[in-house]
Amino acid sequence: MNAADLLTGQRVVPVVVIDDAGDAVPLAKTLLDSGLNAIEVTLRTEAGLAAIERIASDVPDMLVGAGSVRRAAQVAEVKSAGAVFVVSPGSSDALLEAVADAELPFVPGAVTASEMLGLLDLGYTLQKFFPAELSGGAAFLKAVGAPIPEVRFMPTGGISPGNANDYLSLQNVACIGGSWIAPPALLRERNFEAIAGLAAAAAKL
Ligand code: 3PG
Repeated sequence: MNAADLLTGQRVVPVVVIDDAGDAVPLAKTLLDSGLNAIEVTLRTEAGLAAIERIASDVPDMLVGAGSVRRAAQVAEVKSAGAVFVVSPGSSDALLEAVADAELPFVPGAVTASEMLGLLDLGYTLQKFFPAELSGGAAFLKAVGAPIPEVRFMPTGGISPGNANDYLSLQNVACIGGSWIAPPALLRERNFEAIAGLAAAAAKL
């Protein structure tokens, strides 16, 4: 299955940075109970891989993906941890080869028309657009939608409840992602109640 199909129906995907793998399961359950069925756990912390493993084993209804994947070697690691999709801020030949070998749905990052077309040639019709706000935001995505209608995007980076609908109203935006739903500060406090509120609001966007 490709990422475009796997993530169909997901409109908001929380991007999370987990410092303590012990927070992974309560966080995933909170998000799921609030109506969000997919999570991107970034490999930016030591705990990232273990967090993916715990969610995959204890919260089977959650689609758990690995984010900030940068090196080919990480692909096999996240696959054995149980990740069902992979997200990267960009792509490299080695990474593209690794996800193809692992048969893992992949959302590669692109910000220029040439990057988008190169990935489209490889069959990637869902691409990450990061950092969205700094790269031209919703206006940029709307503009590329005219000449490149085959590609749909998962913009992330600088998205918040205030601008989420600017993106979600575009035909070429499949879903949006961001850390505002489970901000690191709330996670550190283990404030799952506050996260539940943010997630429920995000699920209604
Ligand atoms: C990502 O990896 O997609 C971003 O770091 C999320 O960006 P945000 O923190 O601005 O939401």
